[in-house]
Formats: sequence, structure tokens, C-alpha cells
Amino acid sequence: MEVIIQEPHEGANLAADAIVELLNAKPDAVLGLATGSSPLGVYQALAARYRAGEVSFARASAFLLDEYVGLDADHPQRYRNVIHRDLLDHVDLDPARVHTLDGLAEDIPGECARFEQAIVDAGGVDVQLLGIGTDGHIAFNEPGSSLASRTRIKTLTAQTRRDNARFFAGDESQVPTHCLTQGLATIMAARHIILLAQSRAKSEAIYHLVEGPVSAMWPATALQHHPHVTVLVDEEAAGRLQLQLVEYFRRSYDTKPAWQGL
Ligand code: GLP
Repeated sequence: MEVIIQEPHEGANLAADAIVELLNAKPDAVLGLATGSSPLGVYQALAARYRAGEVSFARASAFLLDEYVGLDADHPQRYRNVIHRDLLDHVDLDPARVHTLDGLAEDIPGECARFEQAIVDAGGVDVQLLGIGTDGHIAFNEPGSSLASRTRIKTLTAQTRRDNARFFAGDESQVPTHCLTQGLATIMAARHIILLAQSRAKSEAIYHLVEGPVSAMWPATALQHHPHVTVLVDEEAAGRLQLQLVEYFRRSYDTKPAWQGL
């Protein structure tokens, strides 16, 4: 696991650089997209690179991590609509090639199995963007999620519903109680994972991710078993890491061979 401590816009640019490099080497790459505030800087950087003619998404495809259950098709917080606003409206990624989970599906297990198969059929995810919840969730894998979980329905914790109320005019009762989410094993199958976290609110989750034992109670710790994870955090999110570890991460990044990339 590589931990890079930088200003949020620098972290976003590093993630965007990695995606641009991937797309230029492999135009039909499969991207794993996250919603929420954490990856917004990456999407803005990607849109700028696209406008500058440095990258095209025309042959790429993508998979979203998760979706609320029960939100109307035109609800602004439905993740399918969120990713349109945040990314698809600004680059040439074909919406038909962006796979999402249908939170209105009648047959939920069937919908989850279809989604898992679509990832396999696409050849797997090349690079997966992730945020992290204050309770350590990735996608919507809440504490207690099986480390071997696959795409399925989950109940949101009270904490996550409180955290996400800001997207629902501050009204927690409007936040759905359930979601569909890629499982931890689904996410772990991605070839490269880039997790972004900013602010003090994320510092406990980042502490567990980097220093904690692997535990279903802090689902992001499953990433300790992944061979290629990049964690891009600001000073505040890194605020609870051991000082000597922070110094080590800084030195590692400062002396990193240029050829290595993220
Ligand atoms: C949300 C999403 C996650 C996201 C996380 C953090 O509930 N389902 O995919 O990474 O919680 O959100 P944010 O980036 O807005 O802090």
C-alpha cells in the first residue's frame, strides 16, 4: 500500500495522471468510478485533460460502485444521475458503456448477479477509484461486511445515513435505508485501486486502513491484502497516523523512481 500525503488538488491530479496514462496506453480500459465528494477533484482534473485534448474516453467503459435502493429514476442523488453530472457530462465516455446497479430492480439478487457477470465480461476493472466512509466503509460495504462479499443488497448504518443527509437537504429521513453495492471481493478484483480521503472526519478510518488489523469492522482494511493500492490523503486525513510512518511515506514518495508511476 502506497500512502501519499498531499494537498487535495495535488492528490486529485496524481489520480487523474494515472487514469490518463492508463487510457493512453489502453484506450479500451475499464474504469471503476466512485460517487461522493472524495473523487470530485479527480473528475474535474480529467475533464480539464479531456478539454485540453490529452485524453479520450471514447473506447473506455466503466462500472459504478454502488446505488441507493428505491430512489426514483430522475432523483438527483441516484448515483447514475450523480456520475452524469460529475463526469459523463464533461468527457466523451459513452453513457451506454457505464454500467450501474439498478436500485429499482424487481429481482435484486438477479440484478447483482448480472452486474458481477458484466464486470467479468468486460475483462475486470483496470483502475478503481474509491472514497472511504467515516466508519471505514468502501462503496457501501458497511462494518461487518464479509471480506469475501460480492455485489448484494446492504442496510445502511445510522452513521452513513447521518453522513449522507447533506446530499438530501440535511434530512436524514430522506436517505434510503438500503443500497446495492459491489462487495469487498468484487472491489479487490480490480487491478489497481486508488483511494482518496480528505479532512479530519476521515482520519480515524484512514488510521484503521493503514495501521489497523484487517477486520470486517473496518471494511477498508481488506485493501491491505491487495497488491496495488494507492492511498491519496491530505494532512488532516493522515492526522492520526504514527509520525514515523508519515515520515517514511513522505521519504518514500520523495525518493520514488520516476518510472514507477502510481
Ligand atoms: C458514500 C459512498 C461511498 C463514498 C463514501 C464517502 O456513502 N457510497 O462510495 O466513498 O460514502 O463519501 P464522501 O466521498 O462524500 O465523503
